[in-house]
Amino acid sequence: MGWVTSKLLVSRACCVENQVNGHRFSIEEFARDVRAGLAKTGQKELYSKYFYDDLGTALFEAITLLPEYGLTRADLRLLRAHAGRLSPESGRISIVAELGSGSGEKARCILPYLTGPDGLIYCPIDISPAALTRCERDVSDIPHLRVMPFENSYVEGLAAAARLRKPGSSMLVLFLGSSLGNFEPDAAAKFLREIRGMVMPADWVLLSTDLVKPVDRMLAAYQDELGLTAVFNLNLLARINRELGANFNLNHFEHEARYCDSEQRIEMHLRATVDQTVSIGQDLTVQLNAGETIWTESSYKFHPQQVAALAGKAGFVCEAQWIDAEWPFAQSLLRAVGN
Ligand code: AVJ
Repeated sequence: MGWVTSKLLVSRACCVENQVNGHRFSIEEFARDVRAGLAKTGQKELYSKYFYDDLGTALFEAITLLPEYGLTRADLRLLRAHAGRLSPESGRISIVAELGSGSGEKARCILPYLTGPDGLIYCPIDISPAALTRCERDVSDIPHLRVMPFENSYVEGLAAAARLRKPGSSMLVLFLGSSLGNFEPDAAAKFLREIRGMVMPADWVLLSTDLVKPVDRMLAAYQDELGLTAVFNLNLLARINRELGANFNLNHFEHEARYCDSEQRIEMHLRATVDQTVSIGQDLTVQLNAGETIWTESSYKFHPQQVAALAGKAGFVCEAQWIDAEWPFAQSLLRAVGN
């Protein structure tokens, strides 16, 4: 059976599985999270995972091209410089699972080194169907590669990908882009332990994290001159209008990015510029005072040793760490230790 045929079968199998398990965020879940976040008495908040509808995904892709947003270029430079070294030391890898693949641009830098006549399965896992479609297209010309996308949360997608492992071979998990930075520290530690629970001893995780750097550079990446990040942030309210029948007036909000030194994180907020009442669907109204903010994202920054320490507590050893010279950013190659 040729690769084209098997790929078709595979994609159909994925669709069926997606329907059965209902992996896409349901509109009910989205509505519930929005209500809970906006009904808070103190700081109102919305989850950053809801940025990534089709439009938000496209806006983020555009952000990665901004001169101020150095993260993605640093990630790509590191991959190009070091991906070739992964193959010899890492034993036979039969599965590469990428958490939050976005486009296939990063995977493209690495997959060609790992494919061979035995074939390689690449499982991009993303909650954005638009990203998965783009990702599949980006890697479609790599020979001996089977692509099995999962439109899924990280944990569910990784569990499904891990079941495809061929006995006696190892798995490489890619968690790039500094997406770990979106987790609160406790959740990041818990998530790494969850990953450890789904892989086997001697499996690999390649983890990217943005590093602490001078505050002006960190801030500029989240309040770019062109205003793309502002649009990306505001799209969350626009999405709530579109999908949950809310009536946010986007002209009454302003994008704001701050760096919180003690927490080592960039925060993105949407600041109400006037007193206002917003209705969300039929039965919820939210009062916002002028000056009040809705917290939409945290993007934690790390020191290199913090990444290694975090990984160590989760059951990995950090075998190598590569740091970009232009934009302080780290890739850490973690190996799962036995239990
Ligand atoms: C995709 C989560 C890594 O935090 O830098 C970009 C998302 N937010 N601009 C980040 C984002 C604002 C991005 N991550």
